[in-house]
Amino acid sequence: MGRTLYAVANWKMNLRADQSAELAGQLADFSKSLNKAQVWIAPAAVNIPAVTYATESSGIKIGSQNVHWDKNGAYTGEISVEMLRHLNCSFAIVGHSERRRLFLESNELTAKRAVGALQQTFKVIFCVGENLSQRKSGETLAVLQAQLDPLLEASREFDTSGLLIAYEPVWAIGTGKVASIGEIEEAHAAIIDYWQNKANALPPPVLYGGSVKPDNVADILSVAEVSGTLVGGASLNFDSFKDIILAHEKLSC
Ligand code: PGA
Repeated sequence: MGRTLYAVANWKMNLRADQSAELAGQLADFSKSLNKAQVWIAPAAVNIPAVTYATESSGIKIGSQNVHWDKNGAYTGEISVEMLRHLNCSFAIVGHSERRRLFLESNELTAKRAVGALQQTFKVIFCVGENLSQRKSGETLAVLQAQLDPLLEASREFDTSGLLIAYEPVWAIGTGKVASIGEIEEAHAAIIDYWQNKANALPPPVLYGGSVKPDNVADILSVAEVSGTLVGGASLNFDSFKDIILAHEKLSC
């Protein structure tokens, strides 16, 4: 069976529309030479039109950094699947640790977002991960399970083929500290096993995120249970994200 690897850029609250379009245009030109790696970009919502225009017919998928579960309504500050689809977006990141930690999005709210989007056949990258004190006190697997549970519970009712999970240890995000290969292997295997047992279904691809850089990406992708990476800081620079994508291309088959 082939191995599809996803290189996903999360630009967070960085870059203006002109800067986003310029970087996206460079990535679009470069991506035309790729055969196997999947390149996805999540710019700031307001920059999505500029980025979809710059990446037209390049094969790059564009998505948002969050999404609401409902189709429309009185939800100030939120974005619906329909609005995103209309702009040629095809996925949303949900439950990023910055949403959970800084904007107090709970496991339940996060699952609700993911369920709403998946039910509208939108792709979702569902983020999970423990913080440092949880890892130190040996709670990592329990935390991951608690984050997955409300989504697993609901997922029996609908098709989850548009779901990807991102394992992002909170202590590794934007810190330059990467989880060790052993830690990545253990967490990914645990997520896959848990999903398989609880959902009684094929597990979704599981990406790794947290200080992914050109010089550590090949080691991370050498783990069989890793289906790609979610990249913050290093995706904001053309040369470094290009090198990261190339590692995905080389190891896809
Ligand atoms: P980082 O961010 O690559 O800057 O650590 C990853 C993420 O938050 O998805």
